[in-house]
Amino acid sequence: MFTARTDQGVLGYLGRALSLELSAVQLYSSHARLAALWGLAEPAKRLKQEAQEELEHADRIIERMLALGFAPNASQLLPVRVGQSLTDLLWLEHAFEAEIIQLYDQARRHSARVGAHDDRLFFEGLWQEELAHQQSLLEWLEQLQGGQLATQESNSLNRPHWR
Ligand SMILES: [Fe+2]
Ligand SMILES: [Fe+2]
Repeated sequence: MFTARTDQGVLGYLGRALSLELSAVQLYSSHARLAALWGLAEPAKRLKQEAQEELEHADRIIERMLALGFAPNASQLLPVRVGQSLTDLLWLEHAFEAEIIQLYDQARRHSARVGAHDDRLFFEGLWQEELAHQQSLLEWLEQLQGGQLATQESNSLNRPHWR
């Protein structure tokens, strides 16, 4: 069961990825509930679905760690950041995705460097899914800004400064 050959760097990336994916579950679940509190039923439903997808990512990492002979060890959840509007939430999610995309990019490069072929494929799959996820958030934002900004009472949506 125990495989002494697993690269320590790969293990480190798996642990950090698990922490981020579980943080993503917390983030999307909170944003879904927040949207529901604001009376935005459809966005709430979509965000809840995204929380589900992030949970599925966490589950894949857990499976991977167990298959390698290690107990999953996510250690730190990132606090949820909230905003005043759906647009705020989507920008926060967009930034979160950027962070996890960067982690998977580093993880896949590291795996390639140490010749861990299967690990590279594993991280690459997640990397591509998160890239697609981030892109879908961007499209959603564009939709909202095209359709909503003109009618919203406030145009001064505080787009967070990191963008
Ligand atoms: Fe994810
Ligand atoms: Fe994601």
